[in-house]
Amino acid sequence: MEQLKNQTLLASVLIDGKGQQVFNPFDNSLLGTVAMSCQAKIEQDVLDLEIGQKAWQKKPAAERCRFLKKWHQLILENEDDLAMLITLECGKPLKEALGEVRYGASFIEWFAEEGRRAYGSTIPSATNDRTLLTVKQAVGVAAAITPWNFPLAMITRKGAPALAAGCSFICKPSELTPLTAFAVTELAYQAGIPKDVLRMVVGESAHDVGEVFTYHSSVRKFSFTGSTLVGRKLQMQCASTIKRTSMELGGNAPFIVFDDADIDHAVKGAIASKFRNAGQTCVCANRFYVQDAVYDEFIDKLVAEVDKLKVGNGLDESTDIGPVITKEAKKRLLDLIEEAKGRGAKQVNKDVQLEGQFVAPTVLVDVEHDRPIVQGEIFGPILPIIRFEHEDEMIAMANDTIYGLAAYFYSQDMNRIWRVAHNLEYGMVGVNEGVISTEVAPFGGVKQSGNGKEGAKEGLEEYLETKYVCIGGLER
Ligand code: SIN
Repeated sequence: MEQLKNQTLLASVLIDGKGQQVFNPFDNSLLGTVAMSCQAKIEQDVLDLEIGQKAWQKKPAAERCRFLKKWHQLILENEDDLAMLITLECGKPLKEALGEVRYGASFIEWFAEEGRRAYGSTIPSATNDRTLLTVKQAVGVAAAITPWNFPLAMITRKGAPALAAGCSFICKPSELTPLTAFAVTELAYQAGIPKDVLRMVVGESAHDVGEVFTYHSSVRKFSFTGSTLVGRKLQMQCASTIKRTSMELGGNAPFIVFDDADIDHAVKGAIASKFRNAGQTCVCANRFYVQDAVYDEFIDKLVAEVDKLKVGNGLDESTDIGPVITKEAKKRLLDLIEEAKGRGAKQVNKDVQLEGQFVAPTVLVDVEHDRPIVQGEIFGPILPIIRFEHEDEMIAMANDTIYGLAAYFYSQDMNRIWRVAHNLEYGMVGVNEGVISTEVAPFGGVKQSGNGKEGAKEGLEEYLETKYVCIGGLER
């Protein structure tokens, strides 16, 4: 932590004494402690934010835009420190962490602008004595729970549209990665965003925070990024007060290589998609399907690249893959590999056993489609490959899952590109691209991968109500 340039920022985040301790997944050393709130305090936060929201929504969109742009600028000015914090508490390599800071900041800039374009509409009336129009209004207090795998970007992807729309925003970051969350919130305050408009809370128990966010009637919108299992429960809790929800849940992304693909390009995309954040993103390629004619070529080229990847401390510049987030995560991944191998899967790259919280990249072939490693979300650097012959059979396998977040395929045939993109039951499809997330395009899944969109113009709509106004008794 002594490497951070802006020690004042760090000092504003850490507390002495009892609170949530934060550890480095690289060596499990203690990084520091942040404040924890009890349930009553979080309920009071929501009430404060309800008052703050009323004043915030009255500000012209252009003024909210200026606050957000200042926040964006402060994040970029502190990007090295924020990247360092991300690497220290989440483990991802520093170059990726810096990419996350810029990616996270891009949502603030985008929504600062987009908030100024929250247009309503006029509707042709059937009679001359009426004018019909719609106006866009902020939903109210928005609450969010964000995950550890993107300690900064998932906060800004939810918080920036909320603030731009005129909502207030309260967020619980993961207990594993609250340092970045508190640091980025401190920068928002320095940008002038009021404390009764934006608040970051870590609860004495995650369950208590979830209860306040989902049951409190003053919270009008709830947004969650995390597993389908937890999202399902939270969505049910939100039903009690009919809250609007956005759920960014689990994925099981197929990565398909057709026989007309550019194989070198596909290998590059596979590495980028699979090993981003050590495979711990919900849009990471999860299972690979490779067509007969290019199967051997793809695997040979892929293995040559995988075996070059360097696993190590995220702070080391040459590291490609950092530690996984917890000891439990590592055990789950090793169990998945063992289970698949027990059913005939073979590892085709170097088999390396690593100490600590590291999992070596693992390429498995002859994997059966019904194994947990194919049916569930791996969330780690394991790459199971299945051979296929026909496109129809392939689409059926790709869609044979409860998930529908992201899918990727490689092909040079324009007819096939349109057909397959159309037939994949996913919210996002990458064609000849392995990493497709950007602030300007809608991120979100279908089926049990969730509902709602983040980023893009759709991301703002999640925090806006459309009010219909009918002005009658007019003369024309
Ligand atoms: C996620 O894994 O939840 C987000 C990944 C992304 O934004 O690309």
